[in-house]
Amino acid sequence: MAQELVCLLSFTFALGLQVSLGEHAKKRLLLNDPAIFNSRLAKLESTIQSMDKVIESMNNTFNAKLKSMESSYQANLQTKVRDHERHIQNLTSSLSTLRIGIANQQNTMTQMSQSFQERGATYVRWGKTGCSGTGTKLVYSGYSSGQKFFYGNDYYRGGPSNMLCLPEHPELSNTTAGTNSYIYGSEYDDARFGSGAQNQDVPCALCLSNTSTTVMIPGRKSCFSGWRIEYSGFLASGAYHHAASSFVCIDKQPEFIPGGRSDNNDKTLFITGYKCGSLPCPPYTDDLQVYCVVCSK
Ligand SMILES: *[C@@H]1O[C@H](CO)[C@@H](O)[C@H](O)[C@H]1NC(C)=O
Ligand SMILES: *[C@@H]1O[C@H](CO)[C@@H](O)[C@H](O)[C@H]1NC(C)=O
Ligand SMILES: *[C@@H]1O[C@H](CO)[C@@H](O)[C@H](O)[C@H]1NC(C)=O
Ligand SMILES: *[C@@H]1O[C@H](CO)[C@@H](O)[C@H](O)[C@H]1NC(C)=O
Repeated sequence: MAQELVCLLSFTFALGLQVSLGEHAKKRLLLNDPAIFNSRLAKLESTIQSMDKVIESMNNTFNAKLKSMESSYQANLQTKVRDHERHIQNLTSSLSTLRIGIANQQNTMTQMSQSFQERGATYVRWGKTGCSGTGTKLVYSGYSSGQKFFYGNDYYRGGPSNMLCLPEHPELSNTTAGTNSYIYGSEYDDARFGSGAQNQDVPCALCLSNTSTTVMIPGRKSCFSGWRIEYSGFLASGAYHHAASSFVCIDKQPEFIPGGRSDNNDKTLFITGYKCGSLPCPPYTDDLQVYCVVCSK
């Protein structure tokens, strides 16, 4: 701005000089006249003085404008800074809210994945004392049990059909039961279960898989696609002319309960065969042993 002022000053001065010289060129000769010279000089000085005043006034106006601009700029700046600070505070608080939200979500996810991992499905593995599925744990081992196949008089054929896996470590009551319902241990009554299996008592294991469901599929020794094998074997049940019984899947390599080889004829198990008729053959074939597999998913 100072430069501009200097410019303006020299322009005005030059103009004044030109006007003085141009208009009165003819009188140049008279410059030798001291009176005229002095009067010209005085006029020039007064012009310069008034111009100084103009410049000073302009400078003042300019300075005032500059000051007001500066102060309004400062005020503006301060407002802007305050706004930005507020905005930053808002963002910071939003951020911490989000952080808390994310932490909560992570907690929920962890809990969900834990509960997912703890989730499982149980099944009884008949004829074994342990479990073999991947990620499958033994809950307990025990004795395959059910109803006695025959109660003195062949006439009585009622009672339960299902088999249970009685645990190796029971908790016993101290009161005597009635005489209408009993549970017995079981034995393989069929040499087809394996070498030396005849009359051996049948163990069992309760297994817990880390999957959400399990199923026993009769007529298969492998699982369908997408399912994982837990164990496979042969379908077995009590004899059709004995007391009611259920089908169970006996492991293909059955174990025997130690010291259980005597022929008690309690709950007896036989390997099951297909019978054509209502069952279409093919795909089935009369009298063949029935595979079974327990699968999980
Ligand atoms: C204009 O004003 C400023 C501030 O008062 C001063 O420093 C400067 O010398 C002035 N300039 C002129 C050409 O008067
Ligand atoms: C900050 O947040 C408050 C409340 O949510 C809102 O009223 C205000 O306008 C926000 N300020 C800025 C600068 O975003
Ligand atoms: C079950 O456990 C096995 C072995 O640890 C693992 O490979 C598998 O992914 C687990 N399955 C599920 C559904 O967690
Ligand atoms: C039988 O067991 C119950 C429950 O444990 C107990 O309260 C009671 O004293 C027991 N009775 C005898 C005769 O031991």
